[in-house]
Amino acid sequence: MKIDIVTLFPEMFQGIFSQSIISRAINDKKVEINIHNFRDYSKDPHHKVDDTPYGGGNGMVLTCQPIFDCVEDLKTEDSIVILTTPDGTPYKQSMAYDLSKEKHLIIICGHYEGFDERIRSICDLEISIGDYILTGGEIASMVLTDSIVRLIPGVIEEESHQKDSFNNNLLDYPTYTKPRNFRGMEVPSVLVNGDHKKIEEYRKTESIKRTKERRPDLLEK
Ligand code: ADE
Repeated sequence: MKIDIVTLFPEMFQGIFSQSIISRAINDKKVEINIHNFRDYSKDPHHKVDDTPYGGGNGMVLTCQPIFDCVEDLKTEDSIVILTTPDGTPYKQSMAYDLSKEKHLIIICGHYEGFDERIRSICDLEISIGDYILTGGEIASMVLTDSIVRLIPGVIEEESHQKDSFNNNLLDYPTYTKPRNFRGMEVPSVLVNGDHKKIEEYRKTESIKRTKERRPDLLEK
């Protein structure tokens, strides 16, 4: 898979993809991630990328030209163009699964002060990562990239995302490691008795219980 991120702040991405699982996925050629500054595409003599809003109002609005030109340069017939914006479709694990099967994603980082409405016309998907406002779409695009890349086959063990929270609309069951007793808190005995059928039943029950307590809305689905 290839992911192209279109942003005004490429420096924000330094470090984030050079650690841990994402970095390993890049080294193993499971994914290629490129960061593009759309200011480089501006035809304005001063490389301007924003302007005042028609009709008046505060703040500057991202103009169409640099983003259109940048996306048109990157786009192929396999591309899915995504815009990060708080008024987009609420992001879900099921969307991460679907997107992890694509060949090429272009993620445009929106801007808190707004972007020209016509930019939506070049996007296949508009995604919000939650009901709160970030200063820009950069962190949202990092969230999308991270959650998608870990699902690309071979990046992490298949078994380990089978049990992820939100798989089958359930939260993950509780896990423990050594020591068996830490400051008086005991590991449930079912987990140390070696009866795999009982362990499976315990995990399933705990997963449903936790979902009922914390996210009953998931079970309703
Ligand atoms: N840009 C600003 N806030 C956002 C959000 N919640 N999701 C996606 N993009 C954003």
